[in-house]
Amino acid sequence: MAEPILEVRNLKTGFYSKKGIFYAVEDVNFTLMPGRTLGIVGESGCGKSVTCLSMLKLLPERNSLIEENSSVRMHGEELTKKSRREMCKIRGNEIAMIFQDSMTSLNPVMTIERQMVEPFMVHQKLSRAEARRKSLDMLKKVGIPSPETKIKQFPHQLSGGQRQRVMIAMALSCNPQVLIADEPTTALDVTIQAQIVRLMKELQEKLDTAIILITHDLGVVAEMADEIMVMYAGNVVEKAGKRELFEEPLHPYTKGLLASIPSLAKDTDRLYTIEGVVPSLQDMPRGCRFCDRCEYSMPRCREENPALGRIQGREVRCFLYNEKQPKEGDI
Ligand SMILES: Nc1ncnc2c1ncn2[C@@H]1O[C@H](COP(=O)(O)OP(=O)(O)OP(=O)(O)O)[C@@H](O)[C@H]1O
Ligand SMILES: [Mg+2]
Repeated sequence: MAEPILEVRNLKTGFYSKKGIFYAVEDVNFTLMPGRTLGIVGESGCGKSVTCLSMLKLLPERNSLIEENSSVRMHGEELTKKSRREMCKIRGNEIAMIFQDSMTSLNPVMTIERQMVEPFMVHQKLSRAEARRKSLDMLKKVGIPSPETKIKQFPHQLSGGQRQRVMIAMALSCNPQVLIADEPTTALDVTIQAQIVRLMKELQEKLDTAIILITHDLGVVAEMADEIMVMYAGNVVEKAGKRELFEEPLHPYTKGLLASIPSLAKDTDRLYTIEGVVPSLQDMPRGCRFCDRCEYSMPRCREENPALGRIQGREVRCFLYNEKQPKEGDI
């Protein structure tokens, strides 16, 4: 059996504030195999980006911390203990990330050409002319119009969608073994979106790349992911194969998310919405974090946060199912 390329265990990440440490991500565990795609979904503020930024040690050092027993292993090698410098080498080479915010991740005072060409020269040892040719080719592939002109420009001279595509071109061109794509297609129109999804799939097929795909777009997840991890308020609340999850969501939050997808087939006047909002980090309930918004909540849900339990080969954090779990010591 193939070895996992990435294993994340007990990931717990917090931010310092005047009132103490608040955890944005807690008890996140997953394993990623080469050539597979894990989709991460959940409402805004649920900890999707923090999960991925923690894995790459990209959170600001001054106000964040990753708890001691958190572990992120790539090919069995622990990444949480690596220095910033070592991580720098791994990023953009073995692991590439497409960031949610294209403006902050491109360097505003460097032309696109400089930002694209140099990594090719450093990581793939190409000559400047070859690196330029490859860069132009990649820009064409992600649908940038007049790449010859655009490559000479600075990030602020491009539209948001174009910047996003430059970043995607840069991430894909380093042939990563792991690609983390945080809302890669949100700013793009549907035709370009389909093109980007196709490019990511091509890369995956060619190099057996493992992909972590964060998106609000359940359509993109349905197309790309093999497995889906649903996050709510910093916790994983459900993890299952794509088919199982779409056909039979277990967690009340997942049910709500899926029910909120507009459907042409369903003849309804109003779209379903999950009432309420995600609790803030400073104000996490003691019990289940979804409890206040859950139509199935029981008194116990207010008292303790259920653990992620295993049921029918999938994982769910909810007392509705955990009740049925065999307790330790049971046969
Ligand atoms: N640098 C930071 N300093 C302090 N708090 C932060 C920082 N980055 C994120 N957070 C907090 O961590 C929580 C999780 O944020 P995160 O960016 O992971 O959400 P997300 O699931 O990616 O949301 P979205 O879908 O809007 O991108 C939020 O409450 C956010 O305010
Ligand atoms: Mg995010």
